[in-house]
Amino acid sequence: MSRIAYVNGRYLPHRRAMVHVEDRGFQFADGAYEVIAVRGGGLLDEGPHLRRLHRSLSALQIAPPMSDAALKSVMRETVRRNRVSAGMLYIQVTRGSAPREFAFPATARPTLVMTARNLKPLDPKLLTDGVRVITVPDIRWARPDIKSVALLPNALGKQRAKEVGAYEAWQVDRDGNVTEGTSSNAWIVTAQDEIITRHADQGILNGVTRLGILKVAGEAGLKLIERSFSVAEAKAAREAFLTSTTNFIVPVVRIDDVNLGEGRPGKLAGRLRALYDDYVAAGGGK
Ligand code: PDD
Repeated sequence: MSRIAYVNGRYLPHRRAMVHVEDRGFQFADGAYEVIAVRGGGLLDEGPHLRRLHRSLSALQIAPPMSDAALKSVMRETVRRNRVSAGMLYIQVTRGSAPREFAFPATARPTLVMTARNLKPLDPKLLTDGVRVITVPDIRWARPDIKSVALLPNALGKQRAKEVGAYEAWQVDRDGNVTEGTSSNAWIVTAQDEIITRHADQGILNGVTRLGILKVAGEAGLKLIERSFSVAEAKAAREAFLTSTTNFIVPVVRIDDVNLGEGRPGKLAGRLRALYDDYVAAGGGK
């Protein structure tokens, strides 16, 4: 089936879906994006994703390309035209195209692009066996809370992980604390059953999945602490896992060359996965 992309007001076959060479997204990574999970043809946590998109755009002083009602209708139409039942919708907004100059152009209109596709279900082995993560220095700019399209450090980290057969790279700040994965949030579980994830300040992307997990875990009465944790603490943790729109929750069983516990997925990761699956089945946080 041919894929259709939305580009600035038009639905186009992928081979003809293009933006200008002087688009500031291409030249300066001057834009923001969202990835939203599609389940049963519906958008999971559409509200939180749109709120985060607005937050990113406002931090970058990029005007919203259209009203929320119009955005939602394009989002739905892009999913529909690509016949996505289980997969993802990608939305990107850039400051638009203009002659290359660092300061903002006076007149450029934001560029809006959306694509959508079905994704294969996660390999069940990831959940039964768990995955390995490596640690890499966090070399990103100081505002990873903005979901900007400037993802080169993330791509370098993920490539490094791939080269050594790991699933993800956990980025580590100058104090030796884990910030987050290259495309996921990082979590550990202590011997006291405390579920720990870094507090959401300017140092990490506040994942929509992260927020969903905090909600379901809180409702289930689990012990949650939002604080920094070091690589050493992570390696000594009883369990660990990662969360994102495309993974939901995947257990981590090895960090660099250290097995966590017996190197098997932990109980709490499994319990959270089940709770989160219920949350998804119930339509998420809308
Ligand atoms: N990545 N941290 C980073 C750096 C991310 O890029 C992502 C998501 C997350 C998790 O956020 P969420 O739960 O909202 O997906 C955390 C998306 C999936 C991507 O770039 O493909």
